[in-house]
Amino acid sequence: MDELTVLITREQIAAKVAEMGARITADFAGQSLVLIGVLKGATIFLADLARQIKLDTTFDFVAVSSYGNAHQQSGEVKMLKDVDGSVEGRNIILVEDILDTGLTLVYLMNVLRARRPKSLKVAALLDKISHRTHPIDADYVGFTIPDKFVVGYGLDFAEHYRNLADICVLESELEAR
Ligand code: PRP
Repeated sequence: MDELTVLITREQIAAKVAEMGARITADFAGQSLVLIGVLKGATIFLADLARQIKLDTTFDFVAVSSYGNAHQQSGEVKMLKDVDGSVEGRNIILVEDILDTGLTLVYLMNVLRARRPKSLKVAALLDKISHRTHPIDADYVGFTIPDKFVVGYGLDFAEHYRNLADICVLESELEAR
């Protein structure tokens, strides 16, 4: 049986997401935005963040896979699903549940930057900064977290636990990672 310990409560998440949405609203006042969610983990964060952004906002999604051990990523990323719409000349915010090694976002930033958006920013709810092997910082960060395996609010272990309302540490799995 997996043991879950709450790390960040649903109330803390809601307050932080509201704060992030307010900052984004202020930073892009009078402009429109495209939120690009990275499937699947970012879906719940994107849904909540979008409702805290008081601007003309559309959604798009990408799916990527990274090779190697899922938790010690090897450095190769492949696009499984590209965005549906054009990025050129638009204000883009890449929305991630967690920024870990940085591999995924460095890859996606390079791909999207080449398509000449008007602006390109990153919003990450969680930042596991001690794991970073690829140099990238999010423009909007919710919480900096310790080097623990976390699930909930979109984050999974073998596809489970994404629907937890709180962000929890999965205790029993720590040894395996
Ligand atoms: C997670 C997370 C990011 C990525 C971050 O996705 O959603 O996309 O890992 O890790 P990185 O900074 O080391 O690249 P995951 O591959 O677990 O897929 P999921 O979103 O479908 O759970």
